[in-house]
Amino acid sequence: MSAYEGKRAVVVGGTHGMGLGVVEALVDGGARVVLTGSNEKNLEEVRGRLGTAVRAVRADVTDPADTDALAEEVGAELGGIDLLHVNAGTSEIAPFEEVTEESYDRMFAVNTKGAFFTVRRLAPLLADGGAVVFTTAVTNVTGTPGMSVYTGTKMAVLGFSRVLASELLPRGIRVNTVAPGFVETPSMGVAGITQGQREEFMRIGNEATPMGRHGTVAEVARAVLFLGFEATFTSGAELLVDGGMGIGLSTSI
Ligand SMILES: NC(=O)c1ccc[n+]([C@@H]2O[C@H](COP(=O)([O-])OP(=O)(O)OC[C@H]3O[C@@H](n4cnc5c(N)ncnc54)[C@H](OP(=O)(O)O)[C@@H]3O)[C@@H](O)[C@H]2O)c1
Repeated sequence: MSAYEGKRAVVVGGTHGMGLGVVEALVDGGARVVLTGSNEKNLEEVRGRLGTAVRAVRADVTDPADTDALAEEVGAELGGIDLLHVNAGTSEIAPFEEVTEESYDRMFAVNTKGAFFTVRRLAPLLADGGAVVFTTAVTNVTGTPGMSVYTGTKMAVLGFSRVLASELLPRGIRVNTVAPGFVETPSMGVAGITQGQREEFMRIGNEATPMGRHGTVAEVARAVLFLGFEATFTSGAELLVDGGMGIGLSTSI
């Protein structure tokens, strides 16, 4: 029997990058998957790539009507959820003196309010004994310059996850977060990044990571699926998947 045969999963932000890595691992393991994204072109690409193995739904996490429609669709398609992975996120990098209210609102709308109300709306569909895995970031522990608002958005998600871990405990639902470091994805998690900026970001990331390299989407997917299905005595935790960056691993004394 395949690893996830009979499991029902929803990946919010599953059209590219780490979310797509999780989707592909779930499909390989035999799970039934609903994935979302806000951009129809990206959804079409996933449909072309994975065909009927998944249901790809356009749902913008900042739009309550989309989230309501997603819940209806998930109910009809899967009947319940064993793993809800809330991965959609974006960042805009700027020193805090240069942050605009518009940029602040955009990041909080997607990363924080979107994540919270997605779980609130889908929670009735979660199966008893199921799991929620949010995506935060290593910046929750590093204090990285230029990422003040982004870090605020992800620290809030960490806070939600801990309280939800308590509130969903009576239903046997575990709630955890995965906190990636530098991971190679099309956007590197940064809105509107150019190819040149992406290469520079990767170079900086490789140098700043104690393991001397960026992570892969497959490495993050393994952590998400561990928290989702195997970490049966773990709830309210944040798992760093960061090549040792968060705690500052070093070989010098
Ligand atoms: N890459 C990194 O180095 C890194 C490091 C730490 C943390 N992270 C976090 O990890 C997560 C994934 O990052 P990634 O690099 O894989 O990013 P990505 O490739 O840009 O993927 C983001 C996913 O979220 C979806 N999304 C974005 N805005 C959305 C919205 N308003 N409504 C619904 N879906 C939306 C995107 O789909 P559409 O484009 O179709 O909307 C896509 O499926 C994010 O939460 C990010 O903050 C990334």
